[in-house]
Amino acid sequence: MTAKTFYLETFGCQMNAHDSEKVVGTLLHQGYRQVDAPEAAELVLYNTCSIRDKAEQKVFNRLQQFKRQAGKGKVFGVLGCVAQQEGERIFEKAPHVSLVAGSASYTKLPEMLVQLEAGNRRVTGLSLDTEETFETPFTRRDNPHRAYITIIEGCDKSCAYCVVPFTRGPERSRAGAGVIEEARGLAAAGYTEIQLLGQNVNSYRDPSPTGWDFATLLARVGEIPGIRRVRFTTSHPRDFGKDIVDAIDANPVLCNHVHLPVQSGSSSVLQLMDRSYTRDEYLRRIEWLKKARRNIAITTDIIVGFPGETEADFRQTLDLLDEVEYDSLFSFKYSPRPNTAALAMGDQIPEAEKTLRLMILVEKQRAIQIRRNSELIGCVEEVLVEGRHEALGQWIGRTAQNRTLNFTGGGEALVGRYLPVRVTRAGPNSLVGEAVV
Ligand code: SAH
Ligand code: SF4
Ligand code: F3S
Repeated sequence: MTAKTFYLETFGCQMNAHDSEKVVGTLLHQGYRQVDAPEAAELVLYNTCSIRDKAEQKVFNRLQQFKRQAGKGKVFGVLGCVAQQEGERIFEKAPHVSLVAGSASYTKLPEMLVQLEAGNRRVTGLSLDTEETFETPFTRRDNPHRAYITIIEGCDKSCAYCVVPFTRGPERSRAGAGVIEEARGLAAAGYTEIQLLGQNVNSYRDPSPTGWDFATLLARVGEIPGIRRVRFTTSHPRDFGKDIVDAIDANPVLCNHVHLPVQSGSSSVLQLMDRSYTRDEYLRRIEWLKKARRNIAITTDIIVGFPGETEADFRQTLDLLDEVEYDSLFSFKYSPRPNTAALAMGDQIPEAEKTLRLMILVEKQRAIQIRRNSELIGCVEEVLVEGRHEALGQWIGRTAQNRTLNFTGGGEALVGRYLPVRVTRAGPNSLVGEAVV
């Protein structure tokens, strides 16, 4: 019998990307073979994101595109956050879909595959009341040098704009010993960078009697021989403790970069968002980071046009950018999402106004990044070589602070190596340099 073929496309955040690595590994273990075009696959899977409306629409566009190929030995499945959010409604919206499963059900994937193979055309995995985390020894990682490890799944916060608590369920931390074991295994397999993942890594709490908190787990992962870089994402400011800064200061293996999403610079908007910190409390965390011995890069996420955001509120966000001088940021127009508290709030901001605010914010940040990146000209930074940009004749490198630093020189076949690069030019989003030999 020839192996069944599958195709998987992934949308959304790193947690989804890593879930897909686990799903792929599970399918391969079940005897499936991966193909790189949906046309060639018997099982077509989309691992979906629902964080903003645009992300959600993407999957329905995809499903529309291939609708006519359904039946004829082809089966479609929707995984991830849209699957969890929409549940069985997906079968109505896209009747050619046969599998709908959220991330809390992936441990049951093998059983669900058996049902699909038996010809069941309405297979679901939508339970959220699970204590389980999705751990599998079969993970098939995309990158041979950098590996993701999920340390905590779900989210117990209730930010007024956010679907994640509904799409990923309550928080579940993984046992610390399991995390360390996986990281050791990765080091032994030649991985040098570990990225610890969770929607709110700061509320990590080892469920075993050791009871490690996040800073302890981070420090332990940083001690594993062979691991040269440890990153983590995402930190919620409310739960971000000074012990994390101390851990970074104590061990250069822990990357000097913290992503600390602020969302807004206005305390009243933060309150409406139910973020559970004020601007001043947030700035206290920034102060810890700036007073650290190491030079820690700080990045953030911002939402513009949250319901009720006045021009004065927005100006406070712009002021915050000047005050913090972020190394980089992701900014988004508020997108109303199902089930969330903000959906019913009055004072929704018109689309045109959101667009305008986003443009102003992006422009301001661009100037800040040009300034900050220019300060690095002449400095030597260590990069992990990620690839080759043939058209530019450059190697692609990443610094510990998570900046892209492309460079020339340094010899051949460098991918996966670490080497010092002197910065010669700076743009708003990346640096260019020459390998120091
Ligand atoms: N757990 C992370 C965020 C995950 S979502 C945290 O708490 O920081 C990533 C980012 O998407 C958020 O930080 C937020 O800036 C943005 N986002 C989430 N919901 C959104 C919505 N409804 N509209 C616009 N942006 C949103
Ligand atoms: Fe969403 Fe807030 Fe949880 Fe982040 S902390 S995933 S923004 S609810
Ligand atoms: Fe999207 Fe789900 Fe991640 S909504 S951002 S894929 S947690």
